[in-house]
Amino acid sequence: MQKKILLSGVKPTGRPHIGNYFGAMKQFVDLQNHNDSYIMIADYHALNSIQNAEEMRENILGVALDYLAIGLDPKEVTIFNQSAVSEHTELAWIFDTLTTMPYLMRAHAFKDAEAKNKEISVGTFNYPMLMASDILLYSPKWVPVGQDQKQHVEIARDTAKKFNNIYGNTFELPEPVILKDLGTVPGTDGQKMSKSYGNTIPLFATDDEIKKAVMSIVTDSSGGLPTNVFNVHAPVYHALHGETVTLQEKYKEKAGKYKDLKEALIADLITLIKPMRDKREALAKDIEAVKEIIRQGNEKAKAVASAKMEEVRQKIGVTI
Ligand code: ADP
Ligand code: TRP
Repeated sequence: MQKKILLSGVKPTGRPHIGNYFGAMKQFVDLQNHNDSYIMIADYHALNSIQNAEEMRENILGVALDYLAIGLDPKEVTIFNQSAVSEHTELAWIFDTLTTMPYLMRAHAFKDAEAKNKEISVGTFNYPMLMASDILLYSPKWVPVGQDQKQHVEIARDTAKKFNNIYGNTFELPEPVILKDLGTVPGTDGQKMSKSYGNTIPLFATDDEIKKAVMSIVTDSSGGLPTNVFNVHAPVYHALHGETVTLQEKYKEKAGKYKDLKEALIADLITLIKPMRDKREALAKDIEAVKEIIRQGNEKAKAVASAKMEEVRQKIGVTI
């Protein structure tokens, strides 16, 4: 059977947490052998919030290390940097000309930022068009993302349809791949785990950071079951054992014994995280090798994107 194309990416905005891992990144690894995968470091998306060259450089290499440490194999996967493939921003402009302001105003990310009375950059408003370009240039069938990115993949589909209607069939319609059972991993305060809420368990946390974070999880309990602790524990346990039925039993047995349950979560988190953390430390010792992986990925991605872009230029009539 011919492999299908898969594309996804993560923004280099700082240390990833276990919500990012279970929601999105782990799927890149689980799906890598069955698909022709392009996994991007979305640096131009991060530029909306990281405006410091040193930090940006460090974060880009950080995401590459994260990808390799969780088990992405550069022989199977094209790991590349968004800004190295200028076709992404070029196509975003063409999509801008097809898309209306009211349509983009319905995007969740824009509505959330507006509800918080944030000053919104044009880049943030336009974010879904750049993301549509990221996706559509590579004609992927699958786009694995966390639940909160689903709308962006739908916007990419809509944009592909719009372009195809006007200029003839050019873009494949991508499908989001979202883990149904997972939902959203809660942070230590019970809200969605997010870099911007300071409620995370970092994916490459030290043992001490793990202990501290777990001990601070708010124990909102009904019938002695600490829901937040369980909801963090469930994906960790599932990654280690392939099921959560025995975990549910454990929580019933130990109803009310929060300290025991938190200690069990700490032990499981260390079992999951330590090997990835050790691998990341080892990889960081040879950063030149990591840069070379990105360079090679950039070249492969550029070849695919530039061929697609040539087709787009023909279709819109700017080639003479
Ligand atoms: P953050 O909110 O921490 O800034 P991002 O917006 O960078 O996270 O999200 C990166 C990826 O991780 C996205 O695909 C997103 O859906 C997923 N993700 C982020 N937080 C969670 C969470 N708490 N649970 C599940 N998936 C998440
Ligand atoms: N917007 C995604 C996030 O915040 C990152 C991203 C950028 C992405 N371009 C993409 C994900 C293309 C999938 C496909 O996590």
